[in-house]
Amino acid sequence: MNFRSLTIAILALILTTSVMAQTTPAIENIFARKSVRQYTEQKVEQATLELLIKAGMAAPTGMNKQPWEFIIVTDRAILEKFAALLPYAKMAAKAPAAIVVAGNPKVSEYWYLDCSAATQNILLAAESLGLGAVWTAAYPYEKNMNIIKEVLSIPEPYLPLCLIPLGYPKSETKAKDKWKPEKVHQNGW
Ligand SMILES: Cc1cc2nc3c(=O)[nH]c(=O)nc-3n(C[C@H](O)[C@H](O)[C@H](O)COP(=O)(O)O)c2cc1C
Repeated sequence: MNFRSLTIAILALILTTSVMAQTTPAIENIFARKSVRQYTEQKVEQATLELLIKAGMAAPTGMNKQPWEFIIVTDRAILEKFAALLPYAKMAAKAPAAIVVAGNPKVSEYWYLDCSAATQNILLAAESLGLGAVWTAAYPYEKNMNIIKEVLSIPEPYLPLCLIPLGYPKSETKAKDKWKPEKVHQNGW
């Protein structure tokens, strides 16, 4: 190793150490979260599902309107129906549970943003509890939203944002590293 590459290696180590020094369990959990699409058969306790929803309801909402509803799905027949009808939610067939996050567009024009914040909280809470989960899209696809509305008898004017199949991960998956410093701008583009 020549002097230049040694200097670069030392600088990289200092930089990594200083970034790592700022870490906290919450930050580590954010970096550890990943979409999980394969689950063991282990049931997810009702109290755990409710804790996930409580985390969802802790999210920020525009004007604090909280225009959301959460539907827990543990019925195997319903989960299989979702897997059959929603092309990008096939994993629901083998998920022990799922949560649908729905919003009321009459209460807030931010409903899908508020419900997205709640969904991310649920995904992060799931990660921290050793669960695996994945956001599958309903909104903005009319077809997907109508399927979920019909299967769960969701009343007007509520719209489902997403279906979150979840369970205990079947195998270990690593979170993707998405850090791209070139995407960061300061005091202007
Ligand atoms: C708005 C949104 C819609 C998504 N829809 C689906 C989906 O329908 N099916 C699916 O398997 N994953 C879906 N995902 C998960 C993404 O594929 C996943 O987040 C992305 O590949 C990055 O991987 P990561 O979550 O492991 O970081 C969705 C994620 C978001 C935020």
